[in-house]
Amino acid sequence: MKKKIGIIGSGSVGQTLATGFLKFGFEVMIGSRDLSKLAEWKSKSSENGHIGSFEEAASFGEILILAVKGSAAVQALEMAGKGNFSGKIVIDTTNPIADLPPVNGVLRFFSEMNYSLMEKLQQAFPEALLVKAFNSVGSSQMVNPDFGDFKPTLFICGNDQPSKNEVAEIVGLFGFEPEDLGSVEASGAIESLCMLWCIRGFRENRWSHAFRLLKH
Ligand SMILES: NC(=O)c1ccc[n+]([C@@H]2O[C@H](COP(=O)([O-])OP(=O)(O)OC[C@H]3O[C@@H](n4cnc5c(N)ncnc54)[C@H](OP(=O)(O)O)[C@@H]3O)[C@@H](O)[C@H]2O)c1
Repeated sequence: MKKKIGIIGSGSVGQTLATGFLKFGFEVMIGSRDLSKLAEWKSKSSENGHIGSFEEAASFGEILILAVKGSAAVQALEMAGKGNFSGKIVIDTTNPIADLPPVNGVLRFFSEMNYSLMEKLQQAFPEALLVKAFNSVGSSQMVNPDFGDFKPTLFICGNDQPSKNEVAEIVGLFGFEPEDLGSVEASGAIESLCMLWCIRGFRENRWSHAFRLLKH
């Protein structure tokens, strides 16, 4: 498996996944427009943890993670530079959350039901091997969450099968059962799981849960 990970995004998802990848022996660079946000992460990480701009992180990574605010995803990839992610796997963790308060615990999305954020990204950047993953669980449960005997499911989708196979391996390392739901058109359904996941949090202030698909 490719061992250099570039993370576009400095929030809790970017930092949590970065720390997870370091634990599994990968070399990681997190990208931000403001490196002061990453000073603490950098001071606590091993020599394999680096920080830089979006562009530097995208150029560094053999596999990329997109972990920015959903409404800034297109802009962030433009800043990363198409040439830096052409032909690379880009794990898309983003959700199309609107700048509006939740209504009775239900997040507002800016995307259309039949035209998801990842569909928009794939159309805008056809050269990126986008794979949706890690968007349907909170960052606190993203790295080897402990649910006793139960392994949670992480739903993934994307148009390129070899890329999904590699992401499925990563998902397994992080303690989830990958469930491949097919091509980019499935990403709207997977993005909507973020809305579902957050309802329990907003209504009950409990945020330690994850999905599991039961199947024969
Ligand atoms: N938080 C969770 O538990 C969770 C779980 C699953 C999925 N997600 C999704 O994962 C993504 C990241 O979430 P997060 O909570 O880690 O962080 P976030 O607060 O949603 O996003 C922070 C990142 O967005 C970038 N950003 C914001 N506005 C920007 C702009 N105008 N142009 C370029 N970049 C911009 C920031 O860049 P700078 O670094 O330059 O400030 C930062 O890297 C989101 O799409 C979220 O919906 C979150």
